[in-house]
Amino acid sequence: MRTNAKPFISIENLTLGYGGNVVVENLNFNINTGDIFVIMGLSGCGKSTIMRSIIGLNRPMCGNIFVGGQDIWALPADARDGIIETFGVSYQSGALFSSMTLGENVALPMEMKTNMSNKEIKKEVDKKLQLVGLGGYWHLYPTEASGGMIKRAALARAMALNPRALFFDEPSAGLDPVRSKQLDDLIVEINKKFGTTIVLVTHELSSIMSIATNAVYIGNKTVLAYGAPQKILQTTKNKEIIEFLTRETKCKGGKK
Ligand SMILES: Nc1ncnc2c1ncn2[C@@H]1O[C@H](COP(=O)(O)OP(=O)(O)OP(=O)(O)O)[C@@H](O)[C@H]1O
Ligand SMILES: [Mg+2]
Repeated sequence: MRTNAKPFISIENLTLGYGGNVVVENLNFNINTGDIFVIMGLSGCGKSTIMRSIIGLNRPMCGNIFVGGQDIWALPADARDGIIETFGVSYQSGALFSSMTLGENVALPMEMKTNMSNKEIKKEVDKKLQLVGLGGYWHLYPTEASGGMIKRAALARAMALNPRALFFDEPSAGLDPVRSKQLDDLIVEINKKFGTTIVLVTHELSSIMSIATNAVYIGNKTVLAYGAPQKILQTTKNKEIIEFLTRETKCKGGKK
């Protein structure tokens, strides 16, 4: 499971669950620095649960999660929080605060976590909104924005503090194929421009095949495959994975 690239996050013998019910067990995989890493698998297999445990929201039943060599769940909460604060996160249900404009949403982490002046915050928010193609939309409320704009604003908010790693749970959910592709392009641009490690939870086959550099497939409560998605498809003999990775080409008669 180890590659020559430098692991940024190492998952070792990880078991996760809720109230004594095991959801996934004995997971082992690495997320390397600079990866666009996808956690894939059928609905309910535990993808969001795994992501939540890496971002400090779901304490493992057993096993370890190392970030930059530090065993985050063995650390005191404030030390763990210090590491997690270097991550940017956009949750599956990840709505923006509806009472705040897009700009105010992006400003929020800067107001809460830094000593930046209002002027500095304004400049930085403008920069982040421009990065995601929302320059000039500071004063729009989420109810006035399209689904694609909201996703991009959530991305700008996740980027607010220049994170080392970005975590996205189902970034394209609810988007049409064109907007979904635009979001993929933006994710790749951020990854390339800033070297940000990206961790995505997604079922979107087009995203998986076109942007993921590495991936893990979760099934039967554990890791069924690990590696570049194209490579997994070439080498796996697992029927569920083959079905998962070829379903759209079968249904739609061609790759998007
Ligand atoms: N807070 C919770 N309390 C109890 N059980 C939970 C909780 N969150 C998730 N589960 C259960 O854990 C399992 C995995 O859920 P999880 O949300 O991680 O799956 P997923 O792969 O992200 O699914 P989806 O693709 O539908 O988002 C499911 O059986 C779910 O019912
Ligand atoms: Mg989920």
